[in-house]
Amino acid sequence: MNRDIFIFLGPPGSGKGSLSQRCVEKLGWQQLSTGNLCRDHIARETEIGTQIDFFIKSGKLISDSLILGMVQEWLAEKAAQGSQGSVIFDGFPRAVSQAHALHELLAEFKDMQLYPIRLVLSDEEVIYRLLARSICQNNSCQRVYSLHKQSAHQPAQEMICDECGSPLVRRFDDEETAIHERLRSHHEHEQSLLDFYHEVGQPVVELNARAPLNEVYNELITKIGHPRE
Ligand code: AP5
Ligand code: MG
Repeated sequence: MNRDIFIFLGPPGSGKGSLSQRCVEKLGWQQLSTGNLCRDHIARETEIGTQIDFFIKSGKLISDSLILGMVQEWLAEKAAQGSQGSVIFDGFPRAVSQAHALHELLAEFKDMQLYPIRLVLSDEEVIYRLLARSICQNNSCQRVYSLHKQSAHQPAQEMICDECGSPLVRRFDDEETAIHERLRSHHEHEQSLLDFYHEVGQPVVELNARAPLNEVYNELITKIGHPRE
């Protein structure tokens, strides 16, 4: 398997999912969002879904073992399909213990190159964005929108997904208490993750996530030296 792996690090609401969508559409990359996988488990009421429901709703991190299991399962499924090409890890790893585990997991794949990408956004902007986010309720889609009137990310039709026509819903963890917990957890782990990549000699590319999405995308492409589409 020959893959570039882009690790999207950044606070909740910094645009990891939106930028992933853009890269999937323009570059044909694949997105592995551990958050999307968790929400899918909850919606399907699997055993894992029942275990993680409370944690997700309150904005707390899920145990490493469950998250790593989901990541391994996803990678094995893609390998079995013979799928190739670049992959975005959206929201994984988000603790240094997960970064270590990923490093070990990928050590056997000599032809996989990791690119940590850090989306930088203030807490104030995170809260402003998340209080007006909606997502597609279809779990195999989960496309992200904004309900802010002046946003470029509004759906064409009110509360309907442009992509698959399903209704849009608000995320259950996009309320103030859970947002504050997610931000707290992000701040708790961010520096140790950055230190980890520094120690293993992996430069972290920083993006100004405050800019419009097109500019964030262009900054990514320029900094990693990839053709635009
Ligand atoms: P996850 O789903 O990953 O949530 P998150 O990290 O909190 O990030 P978000 O999805 O909220 O934000 P985003 O950065 O994707 O922003 P988005 O593109 O949507 O994880 C959820 C939960 O799952 C965690 O709390 C945890 O419980 C669990 N979990 C997941 N991974 C885990 C792990 N590895 N370990 C343990 N637990 C884990 O954009 C937000 C809004 O901004 C949208 O409205 C969008 O339209 C708008 N927007 C985006 N970009 C721009 C822009 N450039 N300008 C203006 N608006 C923009
Ligand atoms: Mg997301």
